[in-house]
Amino acid sequence: MTEGHLPRYRIATIPGDGVGPEVVAAARRVVDAAGERFGFSVEWSEYLVGGAAIDAYGVAIRPEDVTACGEADAILLGAVGGPKWSDPSAPVRPEQALFALRGDLGLFANLRPVKVHPALAAASPLRPELLEGVDLLIVRELTGGVYFGEREEAAAEPGGRRAVDTMPYSEEEIRRIVILAGAFALTRRRRLTSVDKANVLATSRLWRRVVDEERRRFPDVEVSHQLVDSCAMLLVRRPADFDVIVTENLFGDILSDEAAVLAGSLGMLPSASLANRLNVHGGTFGLYEPIHGSAPDIAGQDVANPTGTILSAAMMCFSSFKRPDVSAAIEAAVARAIDEGWRTADLADPANPDDGLVVVGTTAFATAVIDQLGSRVAA
Ligand code: IPM
Ligand code: MG
Repeated sequence: MTEGHLPRYRIATIPGDGVGPEVVAAARRVVDAAGERFGFSVEWSEYLVGGAAIDAYGVAIRPEDVTACGEADAILLGAVGGPKWSDPSAPVRPEQALFALRGDLGLFANLRPVKVHPALAAASPLRPELLEGVDLLIVRELTGGVYFGEREEAAAEPGGRRAVDTMPYSEEEIRRIVILAGAFALTRRRRLTSVDKANVLATSRLWRRVVDEERRRFPDVEVSHQLVDSCAMLLVRRPADFDVIVTENLFGDILSDEAAVLAGSLGMLPSASLANRLNVHGGTFGLYEPIHGSAPDIAGQDVANPTGTILSAAMMCFSSFKRPDVSAAIEAAVARAIDEGWRTADLADPANPDDGLVVVGTTAFATAVIDQLGSRVAA
């Protein structure tokens, strides 16, 4: 086959702030190496978004950049934000870029898988025996609820101040995320936990009704309802019991940070935010990013753990490239690099200098992953 016949994917990258550019660079090298091995190429483009865009343009993301990102086959994002732009009452804030991307590009389905590599169980604050078999997927609704509902900021004088947030959900918004979560459960351990607060919220009662209407679509999946408070407790008590969790935007935000603790380091975890449309390759359009933030304290030092971004790129290969083989190869390469003892500083154990682990930086860890993929791309 000639070069011209190989698939060429167009990826918009948003390196962002803090460690974002370093982890995105690492993941790009891994994807390029996978392309060499599996016969595809990537056309990378880059957009200034977040704090970097506030400094350059005065806004968190320019509308034309949202549009350009939407025209790519997928988006790979590092992290946005940092102390310089963290005042929550500032009119311009980095996270506005996330809401613009999610809302304008219809990224309604946020997937946050949590798996614990056995060699990293000791890094988690939970007892290792509780972590055995943990393999869960949080499916968070991402474009509805209180994040996008009408808001009234507190005005008036101290003593008379009042603020309002509203949490709207239409049955269509609930239906599409529930159907997607059910489809994921079918490919996994066939257990779906729908999380709500139906004893208090009207939106949760609608959510529960829609889940009960749609569960007939996946009769082989065991569907249960759980209240969000008890789910929060069970996530640390019996995390291995969960398979797929589907929930609304704010509950998913909170539960996914809680579940991230299981994996030992926030640096390990990937995510995908999927739209309800296909790219030109017939894959799903989506945005992929690590769970962690911009970690400004360690930015620019080549010490950040790129695993979450590399695994996000693996999710991109799965959903947006429709290449489950490439995705599995990247995941396996990460697991083997960990098995071989390569660790970034977040997973090092300074109290145990003779543990045989090799503590390396961001670039060298990516190289270790690429070596396991079987081909090399220069740093
Ligand atoms: C997340 C983050 C964002 C959210 C913040 C940065 C607005 O916490 O992606 O989980 O709340 O959605
Ligand atoms: Mg969050």
